[in-house]
Amino acid sequence: MKYKAIIFDLDGVICFTDEYHYLAWKKMADDLGVYFDRTINNRLRGVSRMESLEIVLERYDGPALTQEQKVELATKKNDLYRESLHQLSPADLSAEVKDTLDALRAAGLKLAIGSSSKNTAFILGQLGLGNYFDAVSDGNNITNSKPDPEVFLKAAEMLGLDPKDCLVVEDAVSGAQAGHAGGFEVACVGDASKAGAGDYNMGSFQELRQVALN
Ligand code: BG6
Ligand code: MG
Repeated sequence: MKYKAIIFDLDGVICFTDEYHYLAWKKMADDLGVYFDRTINNRLRGVSRMESLEIVLERYDGPALTQEQKVELATKKNDLYRESLHQLSPADLSAEVKDTLDALRAAGLKLAIGSSSKNTAFILGQLGLGNYFDAVSDGNNITNSKPDPEVFLKAAEMLGLDPKDCLVVEDAVSGAQAGHAGGFEVACVGDASKAGAGDYNMGSFQELRQVALN
């Protein structure tokens, strides 16, 4: 096989929390009187919480905000987001994703997560994947968010593997760039696939079987 492991982004790849992110940012922005829409929300994919806030605040023209006020705004968004994550359950893990993960593992591949989210452990728990992955690298163990490769390099390190032996799976262009910057090959779904950002630009998650199992 070409790879020894696959490192998956979480939001937009394993699960679809994008809408919850959007609704939480939208409420925070509305309360602050800042314009926010889905196009702006798309720019937040793969980007850390505080960097996302800076993008949302590009439309803010009120009095200058202190760092403390910015942390309060990000916390408010995260509280709203966490509230909606309570609705997530194993039923939100699609059969396509679960069957593909199981097939990849059965073929002998190690499976890991590389996500910018600090809510990764909570989300995996809600989906019933709390103990599923061989390594979880997330927003809590990095200082630089995608397109910096740190989160994927840490995942490869946890697995004890070289980047060239790991395939990264991403839905965000910034995430695909992060993978390439770290020396990984990248398979894309969703937005990043449409943008042609990957070495493989897939129409569906299950295409990973063709990409990785030969
Ligand atoms: C990424 C999402 O997975 O995590 C981004 O694509 C999000 O949209 C980032 O901003 C950080 O998430 P969290 O859960 O730490 O606020
Ligand atoms: Mg993503």
